Amino acid sequence: MKKKLLSVVLAVAMVATLLTGCGAKKEAAAGAAGGDLADKKVGVCIYQFSDNFMTLFRGELENYLISLGFSKENITIADGANDQATQSGQIDNFIAEGVDVLIINPVNSSSAETITDKVIGANIPLVYINREPDAAEEKRWEDNGWNVTYVGCDARQSGTMQGEMIVDLGLEKVDLNGDGKVQYIMVEGDPENVDAQYRTEFSVKALTDAGFEVECLVDQVGNWQQAEAQQIVANALGQYGNDIEVVFCNNDSMALGALQAIEAAGRTVGKDIYLTGVDALSEALENVIAGKMTGTVFNDHFSQSHSAADAAVRFIKGESNEYYIGCDYVKVTTENAQEVLDSVK
Ligand code: GAL
Repeated sequence: MKKKLLSVVLAVAMVATLLTGCGAKKEAAAGAAGGDLADKKVGVCIYQFSDNFMTLFRGELENYLISLGFSKENITIADGANDQATQSGQIDNFIAEGVDVLIINPVNSSSAETITDKVIGANIPLVYINREPDAAEEKRWEDNGWNVTYVGCDARQSGTMQGEMIVDLGLEKVDLNGDGKVQYIMVEGDPENVDAQYRTEFSVKALTDAGFEVECLVDQVGNWQQAEAQQIVANALGQYGNDIEVVFCNNDSMALGALQAIEAAGRTVGKDIYLTGVDALSEALENVIAGKMTGTVFNDHFSQSHSAADAAVRFIKGESNEYYIGCDYVKVTTENAQEVLDSVK
């Protein structure tokens, strides 16, 4: 009798174990197939926390990942402090920790090959953001069928939009000294970055495509930073004074610095000088509304961070992604600046 009872108890226990086992397996399968993201670990590398645009980007990325079901404590965001060696160490740590996916905004795009090899070697899917690796590197992902993608916008579009807002004013208005040419200064982001290269090239190209003659008075690197741009523009205004008709800045942080220099020199945007940026930072949008900047271009950090997170989730679920996931810029002038400001706040 006792024996029988024992065997029944054992049998029940075995069935229970089996059931739990099955249950656990099912749960794991459901997680991998898209159910539970709460225990998945995400490593995020940002090239530099002090960058204004990337601050908006990473804030939105974290919020959106949480809204998808990741838990806050499983999302680690590392500050590369604009130093590739520091960032590479952070990537090593994420690999050692065994994160389920990495989202990387590289300090140097040219380090992408090394980063990819390391991350893919550890069998971790990889989503690059904001700083696009070159075409040869992207081709390697495709040729090898690796779980790697890039999410970003085509910087040529933003450059073109910056140029177009000057063209739309008409040569007569922009050519303040009446010499038939547009004299401009260019404040570039960083020399290695394709966003900086394309914005520089395509903003001017929009002018020449429209038949404007142009003359570059100064072209300098401001590293996306307000203070550096302020200095560059102050010096340029000191040297060339009223000959400067247009100030192109590769981003809004630098346009804000440029505006400080312009105002300090007693010049007035919209009257005796024109100024454009990119990103649509709130402060820049307020300046556009107030007429203190000619325009900016909305660099959609919502769409980019959401697409990056969605791509990461697809990789975690065992699904694939396109190797390039794009997004559109939006031209912002006085006409729509308020609308854009309302939508980003
Ligand atoms: C650009 C952005 C800049 C800066 C840069 C960093 O897309 O416009 O403000 O954040 O990325 O790579």
